[in-house]
Amino acid sequence: MGGQLPTTIAIDGPAASGKNTVGILLARRLGYPFVDSGAMYRAVTLRALAEGVGMEDHEALAALARRLRFHFTSSSERFPAGRIFVDGQDVTDALRDPMVDAHVSLVARIPEVREILVRQQRKLAEDGPIIMAGRDIGTVVLPDADLKVYLDASSAERAYRRYRELRSRGETVEFAQVLADLEQRDRLDREREASPLRPAPDALVMTTDSLTPDEVVAQIMHTIADC
Ligand code: CDP
Repeated sequence: MGGQLPTTIAIDGPAASGKNTVGILLARRLGYPFVDSGAMYRAVTLRALAEGVGMEDHEALAALARRLRFHFTSSSERFPAGRIFVDGQDVTDALRDPMVDAHVSLVARIPEVREILVRQQRKLAEDGPIIMAGRDIGTVVLPDADLKVYLDASSAERAYRRYRELRSRGETVEFAQVLADLEQRDRLDREREASPLRPAPDALVMTTDSLTPDEVVAQIMHTIADC
């Protein structure tokens, strides 16, 4: 990096590993846009559920992915994560619906869907500095990213984070169920053939069980300063 700031930053990791929280904090610190690639897989899933498209109908799901138009707005004081519009409609909150959680990994394992969304993700990264979070950003979407971070934590810690998040939104969920759902999604994401979840060989791998998001960001900033 030769003393310069990295222009493209990839943040990957399993569910609730802190990719979005850390990505947004880092984006604010560096003044970069942040893109949550998972939102695109979630949006296809949301639309498929609404239109009654079966999770096995790969052709129809790929057609949906091709048809949807995504627009990300930057974060603000009120909406730190920014907003996500699909075909002009704000779907940010709907993307976190438990039904979407339960089905998204079935959609994300379809190679045709991935190909279409990866193309759009690469396009978003063409215009300048960017921080992108997901599962395959450092390995497939932006393999030449200037900085790759892989965030991890035990499944119990990650499930607890997701449990707190859901509870704070007023959802009535049981911890054991949240843990089981998260482990099931991890399994699907890690064991699928198309772009499985794994750290890029040159990623900075961080285990975040006992770290706050600010501490994770501080360590990443340290790494940037050292490069
Ligand atoms: O926020 P959380 O980590 O729970 O999930 P997410 O980042 O919104 O991703 C939802 C799902 O989309 C993941 O479980 C993956 O199945 C899929 N995904 C993917 O396959 N590739 C990406 N680059 C991002 C998400």
